[in-house]
Amino acid sequence: MEKYTTYDQDVLVVGAGGSGLRAAISICQAGLSCGIVTKSLLGKAHTVMAEGGAAAALGNMGEPDNWKVHFKDTMKGGRFINNPRIVEIFSKEAPDRVRELEEYGAVFDRTPEGLISQRPFGGHTYRRLNHVGDRTGLELIRTLQDKVVSYKPIVYMEHTLTRLLMDGDRAVGAFGYNRQTGEFVAFRAKAIVFATGGWGRMYKFTSNSWESTGDGAGMAYEAGAELMDMEMVQFHPTGMLWPPGVRGILVTEAVRGDGGILKNNKGERFMFNPEYMPELYKGQYADTEEEGYRWLTDKVNNRRPPELLPRDVVSRAIYKEVLAGRGSEHGGIYLDVSQMGAEYIKRRLPSMWEQFYSLGGIDITKQPMEIYPTIHYTMGGIWTESETCSTSIKGLFAAGESAAGLHGANRLGGNSLTDILVFGKRAGDHAAEFAKNADFGKIDSSQIEEEANTLLAPFTNPGKENPFKLTQELQEAMQEGAMIARTEESLTKALNKVMELQERAKSIHVEGDRVYNPGWHTARDIRFMLKTSEIICRCALERKESRGAQWRLDYTDASEEWGKINLIAQRDGDAVKLIHRPVPAMAPELAAMFEEIK
Ligand code: FUM
Repeated sequence: MEKYTTYDQDVLVVGAGGSGLRAAISICQAGLSCGIVTKSLLGKAHTVMAEGGAAAALGNMGEPDNWKVHFKDTMKGGRFINNPRIVEIFSKEAPDRVRELEEYGAVFDRTPEGLISQRPFGGHTYRRLNHVGDRTGLELIRTLQDKVVSYKPIVYMEHTLTRLLMDGDRAVGAFGYNRQTGEFVAFRAKAIVFATGGWGRMYKFTSNSWESTGDGAGMAYEAGAELMDMEMVQFHPTGMLWPPGVRGILVTEAVRGDGGILKNNKGERFMFNPEYMPELYKGQYADTEEEGYRWLTDKVNNRRPPELLPRDVVSRAIYKEVLAGRGSEHGGIYLDVSQMGAEYIKRRLPSMWEQFYSLGGIDITKQPMEIYPTIHYTMGGIWTESETCSTSIKGLFAAGESAAGLHGANRLGGNSLTDILVFGKRAGDHAAEFAKNADFGKIDSSQIEEEANTLLAPFTNPGKENPFKLTQELQEAMQEGAMIARTEESLTKALNKVMELQERAKSIHVEGDRVYNPGWHTARDIRFMLKTSEIICRCALERKESRGAQWRLDYTDASEEWGKINLIAQRDGDAVKLIHRPVPAMAPELAAMFEEIK
């Protein structure tokens, strides 16, 4: 039996992005011991890639915003397969969580009256994104980090967890390794919160950094948890395109929120093409460029320019423009802010100016940016109960991007930062409550031994497969087959490749030892990525309709029947079992708001 170190914590939080840190604050405030495990360093999380703001209906901008409008926008944006109760909790509690963040020390931009400044974003009826220039996620992480360290939780940096430890049907710990030393670690805990983020790294072009390999969803799935709506992977319309080394890096939606315009190679603002306007949004957006410009300064006229349609709609339009031969020099679209003036751009979008200047040699105050959709977010994830964030595994809670239910088929920009505040807090509160009434449970050493053997196998495996090569092949297959536009043929091709790679992954061999060995780390990561990719493809094949991020060229319409279904994926031995589960009903007083849409 390999040696390992055991740590005990009342509650273990896995992941140190916004939801993990907010959960940890609640756990510490409940007087419990809290361990935070992060694959990376404290402060480095995908949260920082939500740049433009945190959506909450504070109504600071002279518009009649309130939680009900936010609720309605979020349900519409998610094409009605969101869990309405989760959306209700979210819309109601988001303003308090933003104010709380300010009390913790976040320095938001201000209106001339001294209120938190709010900017427009896609799919939001009103100016609703509370922001800190174009660095809101960074400020959120900085603030939560400052707050949480004051409670002195133990932070296990550069630790990767690969297996949930189960006592019967209850999660009682997790096992993994220290990335620097390669030593094995086991955590015992009375409750566990997964705040493990998403899994954009199985695609070639993504805003996600190396950590986003889906270990949380993978571990939960392997332990028997239900995953939901995994086919829903978000393509953010604007990722950097050129030069090749920076492709996929996020270009914040705040660029369009502040008045940036999309143009094709003919100089046309193609988003005004009526073909791109979905039925659901007809009449709610400006019809002319003049009206679109007027909206920027006129708070009474609420018809936004169509560049501010939800992300799924704008990404599809970009895809179609490029396919029709109206793309930019390098196969994307132009995003132009030059009409805003240099002072405004540098004040409102300082990171974007810096990013394009230093990485691409482009001065965005004078030249347009070249962009193309990039994988940014995963709406699907671990199924959670609406009030408590508990999962289908006892003792395991999930929040933020690793959880499903809030965003349905498409997330509205800015809803992720408030998601992690609202449900990070709820997951922390309820995990603490659970832990107070629980013991440590029994750790089964055979599970540890099995996982240690799995981890060590690549050193002695006589095979010749290279984990980096498999990752590259996976990213190419997913980028091609499970992209913005999907068909049965493309998805089947991607799935077949994933299954071939799963077979080859059994023959992964790595050289060297366990001390900081990225090849060895990738050997385990790729197994989670392959399983999650298989589930994405199977779910996308199963859902025979187009809805939000799931755009099927062979089933172009949204189907009434599928609009009532959440797709659950659960482990059945080596097979993936798919279950059609009815979308939870909306409370009658909330359903009444949608009568006109029906
Ligand atoms: O475009 C952005 O700033 C991203 C925000 C988000 O994903 O919520």
